[in-house]
Amino acid sequence: MSEQAKKKSMDDIMALCKRRGFIFQASEIYGGINGFWDYGPLGTQLKKNLKDAWWQDTVITPPMGPDGSAVRMVGLDSCIIQNPRLWVASGHVGGFSDPMVDCKESKRRYRADHLVVMGLPDAVRLYVFVDGDDDGREKALKTLSKYTKRTVQPEEVNIRPFPSLNDAERTVAVGPDAKEPGTLTAPRAFNLMFKTYVGAMATEDDVAYLRPETAQGIFANFKNVVDTSRVKVPFGIAQIGKAFRNEVTPRNFTFRSREFEQMEIEFFCQPDSTAQWYRYWRDFRVAWWKGVGLAGENLVLREHDRDELAHYAKNGAGTSDVEYRFPFTDPGFGELEGIADRSNFDLTQHTLHSKTKLEDFDPETNQKFVPHVIEPSAGADRGVLAILCEAYTADPSRPSGVFMRFTPRMAPIKAAVFPLVAKDGMPELAEKLYSELKPRFGCVEMDVKQTIGKRYARMDEAGCPFCFTVDGDTGLSQAVTVRHRDTLAQEHVALDKVGDWLAERLKG
Ligand code: GAP
Repeated sequence: MSEQAKKKSMDDIMALCKRRGFIFQASEIYGGINGFWDYGPLGTQLKKNLKDAWWQDTVITPPMGPDGSAVRMVGLDSCIIQNPRLWVASGHVGGFSDPMVDCKESKRRYRADHLVVMGLPDAVRLYVFVDGDDDGREKALKTLSKYTKRTVQPEEVNIRPFPSLNDAERTVAVGPDAKEPGTLTAPRAFNLMFKTYVGAMATEDDVAYLRPETAQGIFANFKNVVDTSRVKVPFGIAQIGKAFRNEVTPRNFTFRSREFEQMEIEFFCQPDSTAQWYRYWRDFRVAWWKGVGLAGENLVLREHDRDELAHYAKNGAGTSDVEYRFPFTDPGFGELEGIADRSNFDLTQHTLHSKTKLEDFDPETNQKFVPHVIEPSAGADRGVLAILCEAYTADPSRPSGVFMRFTPRMAPIKAAVFPLVAKDGMPELAEKLYSELKPRFGCVEMDVKQTIGKRYARMDEAGCPFCFTVDGDTGLSQAVTVRHRDTLAQEHVALDKVGDWLAERLKG
């Protein structure tokens, strides 16, 4: 485990998220619901800051293109529910499934590719555990020792993937949460799309799906956008919105949720320019994540090996993931965003299924063609989670014991104003300063309650970068003391200069 990650435990981060109102369990007062999370006041603002930054930097002011000219981007807001035929065309109805294994004893369900099996070469009794679960592995070794009535050494055992077991071997396999052998089913496909019914009759003819990605709404609107926006290839369509997946094992806080938000771009280009646009988006996207606060060693870009590529991406420019080392993936990494060359797969599929031509015109060749697509697809919730994990900084010398080191752009509260005590004209001066800063910077708080130490502690946990305190001298000196969150340094700033002082420091 890296030194930095060691200090951060997911339990501590989740406790802070609840204590300060970043993220709550959905329907908590009813016992919660697995895989669903609500954002509290601070979390909502943090997520909005991330989505606004994404929109601003990718749609409104994307970097100049590979040839130095402006990059054309437009936005879209498509429906969560679409005609179900769209999901047949995209391949989600037929193929969007993870093979799953059910345990008849514990009633638990596992992803088949997450399970591994431990046994001796005679394979008389096999023990199944979740790959990467060190406790599960130890338990398997212990129970195998108990079964064979001797101490089995780790180097004696074979470990192999659960899907490789045949029917006979499954009858002697003990599940991760079971006592008896033979309770695990063979892997079975399980579609990840949430079904619903459109209309009052709710018959099988009325089945529709909650979208599992925002991307397909973009492809389905390709023609509408081209016909109405004067865009020509190369150009991109961007969309932020909810996506739903009936994940079999939602886990790791918001990392694998059943309802989440995506920030997706489909960038349409000429078939012979995919390599340069792939590099453009890949390099820009990783630089962007660094800019919103993930600049350290926990962020990596991982290029997929050829054998990892999706079937439609096999001959393309490539696929890469921007990955972050979360406390629960350490020393490994978890995906924040995928950048993929999807070739002309999606537009071709939708053309075939909808019988609507999805093409652009190339004035050089005087011919119509089906554009190719580079897709940078990011998760807003995973982005927020990575920013929370990165910002979480233990500091035992502070009353809070921790502070959130958000970049000024991401910080949900930009500044706080405190009167040192609630008397001697201090609240009035603080109120005046607050009413100047609030309309200019939006997320500014005024706090009069409790000791100044407690107010600083609260702002440290909220990740507020600057706290301005009006004290007994302010009336005379016309200056306030500003406390810097990260260094704890304090300095005086003239009352009438606070706005400009803050604007300078919130830049970028
Ligand atoms: N259109 C391509 C697509 O949807 P994906 O890799 O399945 O690709 C893109 O999803 C991003 O959406 C991921 O990189 C991740 O950030 C986010 N994401 C996917 N499944 C998620 C889940 N169950 N919970 C939270 N975020 C998820």
